[in-house]
Amino acid sequence: MKRILLILTCAAGLSAHGQKFDQLALTPPMGWNSWNKFACDVNEQLIRETADAMVATGMKDAGYQYINIDDCWHGQRDAQGFIQPDPTRFPSGIKALADYVHAKGLKLGIYSDAGAKTCGGRPGSRGHEYQDALTYAQWGIDYLKYDWCDHEGLKAEGAYTTMRDALFAAGRPIVFSLCEWGDNQPWNWATNIGHLWRTTSDIYNCFDCKVNHGAWFQLGVLQIFDKQEGLRKFAGPGHWNDPDMLEVGNGMMPNEDRAHFSLWCMLAAPLISGNDLRNMSKETLHILTDKEVIALDQDPLGVEAFKCFAKDGLEFWFKPLSDGAWAMCVLNRGATPQKFTFDWNSEKAADDLSGRETKFDTTPYSIRNLWTKQDLGTTQSALTAEVPVFDVLVLRLTKL
Ligand code: GLA
Repeated sequence: MKRILLILTCAAGLSAHGQKFDQLALTPPMGWNSWNKFACDVNEQLIRETADAMVATGMKDAGYQYINIDDCWHGQRDAQGFIQPDPTRFPSGIKALADYVHAKGLKLGIYSDAGAKTCGGRPGSRGHEYQDALTYAQWGIDYLKYDWCDHEGLKAEGAYTTMRDALFAAGRPIVFSLCEWGDNQPWNWATNIGHLWRTTSDIYNCFDCKVNHGAWFQLGVLQIFDKQEGLRKFAGPGHWNDPDMLEVGNGMMPNEDRAHFSLWCMLAAPLISGNDLRNMSKETLHILTDKEVIALDQDPLGVEAFKCFAKDGLEFWFKPLSDGAWAMCVLNRGATPQKFTFDWNSEKAADDLSGRETKFDTTPYSIRNLWTKQDLGTTQSALTAEVPVFDVLVLRLTKL
C-alpha cells in the first residue's frame, strides 16, 4: 500500500512540473500592497484593518480583492528550515490572518525573493523554494510577489521557473508576480511562468521625476509610463506587464493621481493600490473606485492601449475594448493647459495587434467622458475640449 502511495505521489509530482496555474488573473489583478505607504512597517493589525477598510470603503465592491503583505513580515526559519512570520509583528500567524481575510471575501498575498535575502534583508527563498511554496499553500496564500534582490549567480528565468514549479507542486492556485524590475526582459520568457511581471524599477510618488539612489533609482509616473513602449504585444489574459503598484492617495495632486490611475487602466496594468485604505480622502477613494474607468482596465479583451499620435504636448491613446468599443485617453504632459479639436471624420486609430480599426466616418460612436460622467454626443460632430496640465480626458466610445 505504502509503495502504491509513493508511486502516486511521484506521478503527481512529475506532472506538476512545467506549468503555471492558468485561469488565474484573466483580467489584471486588483488589490492592495503594503510597500508604497508602509515599507517595512507591517503587522497583522494593519493587514486586518486594511481588509476591513477594503470592504467598508467600497473598494471590494469596485473589484479589488488581494491584500498583499510586502517585505518584512518574515521571522526566522525553524530547525527544519520552514519560514516563520515575525512573532512580534504577526503573533497570531499568517494562517489566522488568511482566515480573517478570506472570511471577508478577500484574498491574501505574500512576498519573498529569489535570492537568499529579500530587499529588506529578511530571509529569501533561495534553496527553500519548495518548502516555502508548501508553507504558503498551507497558510492559504493566494498571491506571491517574488523579488530579485541578492540574486547573486542566479539566472532569472531559471530562478522564477523553480518557484513556479514549487507553487504548482504545492497545489494551491497562487497568482505569481515576478518582480525583477524588467532587468532580464521577462516579457520575452515569463508568459508561462508568472501571471504578471514588473517592467521597471520602483515607482516614486511623483508625476514627472526620477530619484537616483546611486545603486538603484525610482521613477515617476510619466517615466514608468514611457518605459512601457514596445511591451504591449507581450501582455494578455493571464500574463500582464506590471508597471508597478499605484501611488494614488500618497501625496500627488488629484489631477496627477487621476492621470496616473487612468494611464494604468489604459495599459491594462494590475491595479494594486498602495495607500492607507483606512484613511483616504474622498478624492482618492473616488479615483480608486470609479467603476467605468476600472472597466477599461478589466475589459476581457485584455489589450493595452497604443499611442495614436501626439500633438502640442497632448498624447492621444486608444485602447480597443470588447463589443467593438474603444477607450480614448488624451494626456497633457506639458506645462500649460491645452485645448484641442478632434475631427472624428479625418482621424483613424488602427491597431496591428488586435486588428481593430476605427472608421469614424462610416461607423459612429457615442462619446462619454468617464471622469465627469458627461455624455458628449456622438462622433458625428467634432469634439473640442481642454486638458489641464498633468491631467487626462478619458472617453469611452461605444458603437451606436
Ligand atoms: C523591491 C521591490 C519593491 C518592494 C521592495 C521591498 O524594491 O521592487 O516593490 O517589494 O523591494 O523591499
